[in-house]
Amino acid sequence: MKKNLMYEGKGKALYSTDNAGELIQVFKDDATAFDGKKHDVIAGKGQLNCAISTFFFEKLHAANIQTHFIKRESQTEMRIHQLTMMPVEVVIRNIAAGSICRRLGLEEGKILDRPLAELFYKDDALGDPMINTEHCELFGWATADDVRLMRTIAMEVNRVMSQLLEDVGIHLVDFKLEFGKLNDAIVLGDEISPDGCRLWDVETGKKLDKDVFRRDLGGLSEVYHEVATRLGIPI
Ligand code: TMP
Ligand code: ASP
Repeated sequence: MKKNLMYEGKGKALYSTDNAGELIQVFKDDATAFDGKKHDVIAGKGQLNCAISTFFFEKLHAANIQTHFIKRESQTEMRIHQLTMMPVEVVIRNIAAGSICRRLGLEEGKILDRPLAELFYKDDALGDPMINTEHCELFGWATADDVRLMRTIAMEVNRVMSQLLEDVGIHLVDFKLEFGKLNDAIVLGDEISPDGCRLWDVETGKKLDKDVFRRDLGGLSEVYHEVATRLGIPI
């Protein structure tokens, strides 16, 4: 099934297949934070993230949001459409946490009046700096139309995911998305897992995401498992 390794990132690897335009995305057990400065291997994380990503991609398809997901191939692998990725990360925030608190002096936990979209340039060596539409256009990372569409789709993803998570008592605090092009269409790529989201228990505020690893707050696979179980995802 898998042929050649096309790309290997910190958390995932992409392989070519016999079908042109289709890749296998493999979810690794590696956990990284702070642009790769902190690293560990956590048994079972790849499987949990593959299952959770599959769940969200299928829900997005049901809501008519196009993604690169085709089907799950194994416990840690999914078949995807090959996209030409844009080096831009779109972050949506519903509640202040993480970098926005440091940058703007906000208190962690402040509920924002409406969802906020931010753009970051995907470059570990530079620490993923914050950018705006003009940077995207000037440096050829994405056109203004691309950025507008990415924001619109990301807000729609926020609506779908927030509802699913609130229904099981979890606040979607913030999350990061990556997009690419398939022919001329902007399509959601990458993954949707607790690695790229902040998830807080509605009742207790308990963190159910990668902050557990970033801040040494406990077992990462235990909280990812809890997210999966609450959403009714079989592991
Ligand atoms: P931040 O508070 O560090 O800017 O992160 C916001 C959200 O985006 C958080 O849920 C983590 C996620 N994120 C990633 O997954 N990878 C990244 O490179 C960045 C910048 C953010
Ligand atoms: N920047 C991402 C994070 O901290 C991933 C990484 O740094 O490895 O979540």
